[in-house]
Amino acid sequence: MYKKKIDMSRLPKHIAFIMDGNGRWAQARGQQRSYGHIAGADTLEATLRCATKLGIPYVTFYAFSTENWNRPQSEVNTLLDLMLKHLEENIFMNNDVKFLLIGDLENMPDNLRNASIQLMDKTKNNKAITMAVAFNYSSRWELAYVTRQIADEVKRGELNINDISAETIDSHMATRTMPNPDLLIRTGGEQRLSNFLLWQTAYSELYFTDTYWPDFDDECLYKAIVDYQGRQRRFGKTGEQVSEENK
Ligand code: FPP
Repeated sequence: MYKKKIDMSRLPKHIAFIMDGNGRWAQARGQQRSYGHIAGADTLEATLRCATKLGIPYVTFYAFSTENWNRPQSEVNTLLDLMLKHLEENIFMNNDVKFLLIGDLENMPDNLRNASIQLMDKTKNNKAITMAVAFNYSSRWELAYVTRQIADEVKRGELNINDISAETIDSHMATRTMPNPDLLIRTGGEQRLSNFLLWQTAYSELYFTDTYWPDFDDECLYKAIVDYQGRQRRFGKTGEQVSEENK
């Protein structure tokens, strides 16, 4: 129904997803929270396929935050296992998907770090879509990491302190090979960013839906894109200026 309403000439180039509601989806079915994450991983794959078919060049999924280590150990184990299982799947090569892991690779179990690095290398020339997974990620971690890197370059005399600009920061971020998200979708009813891409979403359109992540299907994605296309993006300019530019 919504697919027909999409203007294919104005698709978002990058959609970021906060996949919330897995736990509540499972509990509503009398199941453990982990059951919701397993269903959520299937939704992630289906969403990736749908975005690829549409021709969206970049997607980013928030799979595990630096704070998620505080969840019950069994749930953490499920998420680590799911990530590892997905890294080993053929979906990337079979569908021409370039994989990018954004997150703290240094403080991650060895098997996950090695599998992530291997997959990034194996898929680096794939072209249909870039899928970034934020794992062991938070914006505050990323900004602290980037600040340390920039400070180190200044200390070594490679960078002049007065030359540090927004572009310098951009070029050090984990997301530096991707454009900033045009659209950020959060499922599960909460309306917050939860330490996700805070720098990169400065001008993103935010879309919140009550749908729990495991129920987020192709139709939900089409609906979000139609909603996004109905908005006027002003990037700090006036509505009149933007209308004039688009004539
Ligand atoms: C938030 O829902 C979701 C997460 C913390 C994990 C998201 C992960 C997946 C969808 C699957 C992971 C897939 C891979 C490949 C790692 P929640 O548990 O906070 O839900 P709730 O708010 O209902 O409790």
